[in-house]
Amino acid sequence: MNPELLVRELRDFRLDRRRQATLFEESSDGGGARGATTAPEQGTLDFGGRSIPLITNEFWSRRQRQSHSLHELSYRACFKGELPRFFIERLTKPGDVVLDPFMGRGTTCLEAALLGRIPFGNDVNPLSRVLLEPRLRPPSLEAIRERLDSIGLERVFEEARSGRHQSRSVDENLEVFFHPGTLAQLRVLQERLVHDGADPIDHWIRMVATNRLTGHSPGFFSVRTMPPNQAVRVESQRRLNDKHGLEPPLRDVREIIQRKSASLLRDHDSKTESLLDGVRDRARFLTKDARDLRGVDDRSVRLVVTSPPFIDIVDYAGDNWLRCWFNGIDAEQASESITTPRKIEAWQEFVTDVFRELERCLVPGGWIVFEVGEVRNGTIRLEEHVVPAAIDAGLDVVAIAVHSQEFTKTANCWGVANNSKGTNSNRLVILRRGT
Ligand SMILES: C[S@@+](CC[C@H](N)C(=O)[O-])C[C@H]1O[C@@H](n2cnc3c(N)ncnc32)[C@H](O)[C@@H]1O
Repeated sequence: MNPELLVRELRDFRLDRRRQATLFEESSDGGGARGATTAPEQGTLDFGGRSIPLITNEFWSRRQRQSHSLHELSYRACFKGELPRFFIERLTKPGDVVLDPFMGRGTTCLEAALLGRIPFGNDVNPLSRVLLEPRLRPPSLEAIRERLDSIGLERVFEEARSGRHQSRSVDENLEVFFHPGTLAQLRVLQERLVHDGADPIDHWIRMVATNRLTGHSPGFFSVRTMPPNQAVRVESQRRLNDKHGLEPPLRDVREIIQRKSASLLRDHDSKTESLLDGVRDRARFLTKDARDLRGVDDRSVRLVVTSPPFIDIVDYAGDNWLRCWFNGIDAEQASESITTPRKIEAWQEFVTDVFRELERCLVPGGWIVFEVGEVRNGTIRLEEHVVPAAIDAGLDVVAIAVHSQEFTKTANCWGVANNSKGTNSNRLVILRRGT
């Protein structure tokens, strides 16, 4: 697809009416019907004499669970599977390489694999590979059940339930979140799973357990914490426990892992199995700074879909300390490598260096879709810093697409009137390497 065609496609795109109808029937916020009948806002943006198409549209549904069930793992600042799918379907063909240099939970990589593209991924935090790779090789529920039975969790759970369990060691920070009997089960899992000889079934169980560590419902191992994609900090949790009289309940770790596995595997069938089988051996994953992706060949990537760390709004390492603990990852070290510039100038410099590296990896005519949001209550628009960074790195700026569900004809699509803070819309800068 050439850039003009893509711009036209973004402008003319209309979300499927039938899906919309179902969406609005189910929507509880009552705000959707307006969006369904409103034409998209169009315009251009001027950057140093260049006129860049700006397109606001509703590119995918606000409905939950539109993506494959294998995506359903929480991660701070992740995007929905529909975002990479929209661009992978239009800008690549089966067998092409799709890269995410800041892969997080691996949304782009998993979606690429499910569409028969070769996923390449990278994240400076080793947790990303723990979360993604097992989902490219899902074991059967039967195999997971048998493995869980062989680990001996049931015995530890029963001992705790009958009061026979003696806590081996007390860790005050961990016991803010977990009942001692739950912690004992987690330690058994750690010993069994986090070692070199672990196989794909162990890796799957480790991924699910990592995801179930903390959350707000009995489907998690911990006492009720903030929603699963929020930060978990010892001091704030201690306060929450004190305020609401919360005590970590004993959890059946084996049962929770089985239940979440069944949910993740809900959509997994012979079709997805053969798609994953077809691409897995050519997939490539790195744990590096995105400015240096040695290991990805020059001119090998057709499409990049990614969202970088935003300036200082998300503390990925702080948020993930319990996940790091469970996986034997040094959270301090992971934290030091994660980029969270406080100043916009430093962020723009970082992004310029990343673009130079991505330009090396792209085939001529290859694409980058770079998702950023508004930060600091809309006072900084990151895309205004992405565009000059891209130009400095020698990339063509094709368009800026704003995915928005709430726009109206009179809305200023650059404003954040609908958003109290943080990043509510998806703002996508679309770039291309020259042919
Ligand atoms: C916005 S999140 C990506 C979320 C991802 N799109 C998803 O759907 O899960 C940004 C990611 O960048 C990673 N990161 C931060 N600094 C990095 C760096 N210098 N090099 C590579 N990855 C980095 C963080 O660990 C985090 O996972």
